[in-house]
Amino acid sequence: MIQPNETLGDVAATHPEATHVFLRHRLDFCCGGAQQLGEACREAGLDPYAVIGEIIAEGVSGEGVRWDTRPLRDVIEFILLHYHEPLRRDLRVLIEAARKVERVHGKKPSCPQGLAALLEQLESELHEHMDKEEQVLFPAIQSGAGPRLQMPVRMMMQEHDDHGVSLERIRVRTGDFQPPAEACATWRALYSGLAKLEAELMQHIHLENNVLFPRALGA
Ligand SMILES: [Fe+2]
Ligand SMILES: [Fe+2]
Repeated sequence: MIQPNETLGDVAATHPEATHVFLRHRLDFCCGGAQQLGEACREAGLDPYAVIGEIIAEGVSGEGVRWDTRPLRDVIEFILLHYHEPLRRDLRVLIEAARKVERVHGKKPSCPQGLAALLEQLESELHEHMDKEEQVLFPAIQSGAGPRLQMPVRMMMQEHDDHGVSLERIRVRTGDFQPPAEACATWRALYSGLAKLEAELMQHIHLENNVLFPRALGA
């Protein structure tokens, strides 16, 4: 049974289906994964036991892999295949769509001016970050460097916090990804694509911060 004094990160690691519930209620289980579930619920005005009930209901479907029990090699492979590669591809498409929306609808007050620039900034910080993980940190984890990786892991977690700040700016710029009534198909697809990108980046960061890194350091 999940307890309110467990951290969001631990609950997400041991009950993968909890991430759907956390995303729904905007509980930050990735960069804010060290916070206790009960405390996070109180701050968000939610009843922790109602949230736990939702997680249990969600878990009935049985989906979600327990990455906290799988070999680290598999965790890394999954991150590369399901998060790094698609992120590089999808972000490019979303930047092109944002440019188009700003170009075509620039005169409308509801147009998300500056969104393409925010996405380009996120893209450049993510590319640099993922290159470091792929070329340095992940190979070091696989070679069993363990506690010696404390410094680079801390650096990566700091950069995850920066990604969180960038995501928040994008969310604000798009009014929580809610397209206005006059939005065209590209505009709507852009906002739903951004909502998906945010959810996936949170899952990605959670898997690194709360599962891969602590296990790699031998915690
Ligand atoms: Fe990553
Ligand atoms: Fe990362």
